[in-house]
Amino acid sequence: MGIFGITGATATLGVAGYAGVSQLTKPAPTPTVETEQVQASDVVAFDGIHQAGIATPAQSNVVLTAYDVAGTAGKAEIAAVMKAWTLAGRALTTGSSMEGDPDISTGSSTASLSITVGVGATLVEKIKAQRPGALVDLPAFAGDQIDPLRSGGDLVVQLCADDPLVLAQADRVLTRLARGILRVRWQEQGFGSTGARKDGRTGRNLMGQLDGTNNVTTSALAKAGPIWVSDDGPAWLAGGSYLVVRRIRMLTEQWDQTNKGQQERVIGRTKDTGAPLGSKLESDFVDLEAKNPDGSLTIPADSHVRLAKPASSAENMMRRGYSYRGAVLPDGSVDQGLLFLAFQKDPSTSFIPVQQRLAAHDALERFTLTTSSGVFAILPGVSAESDWLGSALFS
Ligand code: HEM
Repeated sequence: MGIFGITGATATLGVAGYAGVSQLTKPAPTPTVETEQVQASDVVAFDGIHQAGIATPAQSNVVLTAYDVAGTAGKAEIAAVMKAWTLAGRALTTGSSMEGDPDISTGSSTASLSITVGVGATLVEKIKAQRPGALVDLPAFAGDQIDPLRSGGDLVVQLCADDPLVLAQADRVLTRLARGILRVRWQEQGFGSTGARKDGRTGRNLMGQLDGTNNVTTSALAKAGPIWVSDDGPAWLAGGSYLVVRRIRMLTEQWDQTNKGQQERVIGRTKDTGAPLGSKLESDFVDLEAKNPDGSLTIPADSHVRLAKPASSAENMMRRGYSYRGAVLPDGSVDQGLLFLAFQKDPSTSFIPVQQRLAAHDALERFTLTTSSGVFAILPGVSAESDWLGSALFS
């Protein structure tokens, strides 16, 4: 983003001093675009009842960072960071320049950058007497090998954009603004298919499947349910959601030794078109009753889609995952897989029961290994200029 020839919207974001409340109560200055135009289609609105990056279309790349509160920093210091992040969020997502901007993405568009901030149970318990019932610790699922240092955290920031440099810029700015107050606990980076994103197609994951077909629809997301916290949750979270993060390694050596037919039966959909087995189109209904001529189930009993399919609307999740490729492991294979990100109203009625079914019976489990995990309460959006992220929690 950098400068772009935009003036009039320079947010003052000193490293030592955070932007004060006074700046938040003033209307945000309107950026004046002088030369290079920031295309409206490249901008995902930062402000709104819900934070962006949940119901807004998934961009091609993600950087997910968990932070812990450093040293003795308390509520007032965290509130200052949240105010600074709110101002920076508005500036970064509209391509406005900021003091101390590292200029990594100068000349790039805003690339549909979205910024989504959440809090972990460890932080909520420090601030409030008790955590909301839905901010659960996930149980240990059969087969998990969780690295605690790459799991959990006091806060999480999901940055999504169609340009990795834009993400690098936003990550640097936000982390620097929190210096001395928050320290990075872990970070994950992920990607999807840029071609599929451009054409509005379902992208493939690193097992070669079309992934993301049956998801909560945009029209359903516009309504109060199924993934938003409403009046039945704590007031500070109304309009928010819960994010479950799972870093799921794909055991590609084993997977690549299976043939296409076996792979399709593991998922319950064809690889080429993504159609449910026995159907023609990706969009066809997943008919769990369908039988082969020999009487066996067309979509196998242990297939992923059969077991993952929500048993009721309480199990609905908005899956917004990304592929990741990371380090070379000691055995010479590459650590790669799915950064599973799912937004929901209550993980205890959605992710947990679904994952319990998968862990017990899913044929896909033989080819995956979950290595990190986290649950975060995703804060409501900011819908007034004077508002800031987490104001109802940290005030
Ligand atoms: C569906 C892959 C993990 C929940 C699917 C589909 C694929 C897939 C290819 C079919 C296309 C679609 O509808 O999106 C994977 C892979 C995983 C993984 C490769 C791990 C590496 C999970 C986990 C959960 C989950 C951990 C939740 C606990 C779902 C749900 C559906 C689905 C809810 C839609 C089922 C339906 O209603 O048809 N997954 N998945 N998946 N998956 Fe996964």
